[in-house]
Amino acid sequence: MKVMILKNSEEIGNWTAYKIAKRILKFSPTKEKPFVLGLPTGATPLKTYRKLIELNEKKIISFQNVVTFNMDEYVGLNANHKNSYHYFMNENFFKYIDIKKENINILDGMTQDVEKECYEYEEKIKKVGGINLFLGGVGEDGHIAFNEPGSSLSSRTRKKDLTYDTILANSRFFENDMKKVPTAALTIGVGTLTDSDEIIILADGYKKSRAVYHGIEGGVNHLWTISALQLHKNSVLVIDEEAASDI
Ligand code: GLP
Repeated sequence: MKVMILKNSEEIGNWTAYKIAKRILKFSPTKEKPFVLGLPTGATPLKTYRKLIELNEKKIISFQNVVTFNMDEYVGLNANHKNSYHYFMNENFFKYIDIKKENINILDGMTQDVEKECYEYEEKIKKVGGINLFLGGVGEDGHIAFNEPGSSLSSRTRKKDLTYDTILANSRFFENDMKKVPTAALTIGVGTLTDSDEIIILADGYKKSRAVYHGIEGGVNHLWTISALQLHKNSVLVIDEEAASDI
């Protein structure tokens, strides 16, 4: 695992967007296999999304031959709910780029058959030949996607109950009312993430410094699922100076 320490979130956004753009450009649109990109929600990747939108608008990159898989979705929120990850992705990214609708994959938090939904998500990833690059953020407790502390490091896509800490942290999007935050989510597993050819995880601000410390200097363990990156041959943690303050 590499660690890249940049000045601030602005630099993180630029560096990451150019990295993703470079990878997409390597894949000519005439090639049969699309570029498969894993994507997160959260405040951290917003600057990356903005830069990617700009690069798309300037026609420097195109998403015509890109297939995306999102990391997770809340259980019980429909795609039009303003706090669903479907809505977030559309409002902050997809509606501004030239991606084909049928190439966007996000878990259905309203599904009546959770097992089938999760199984089919994994199958879809396999069918397109696996994920080329997974971009992610990290929770204050070190979770990646919604792989809460205690998640198996070989876990696959499944339903996960959210911890008190995550519900508290995410209540900022639900009028600071913890009761409004869903208590469970569908999420890719740590194993799903680490099967990707390349992983980029972003973290900024002091709030993430403890997770960053455990991810880099702690042992690999299921209580800090970010630590699984240490075993990946092509992963990079891109952080700012504040997030790096405990290492
Ligand atoms: C949620 C998401 C994670 C994300 C985390 C941090 O829990 N499931 O994928 O990394 O929030 O979000 P933020 O970037 O807003 O700090």
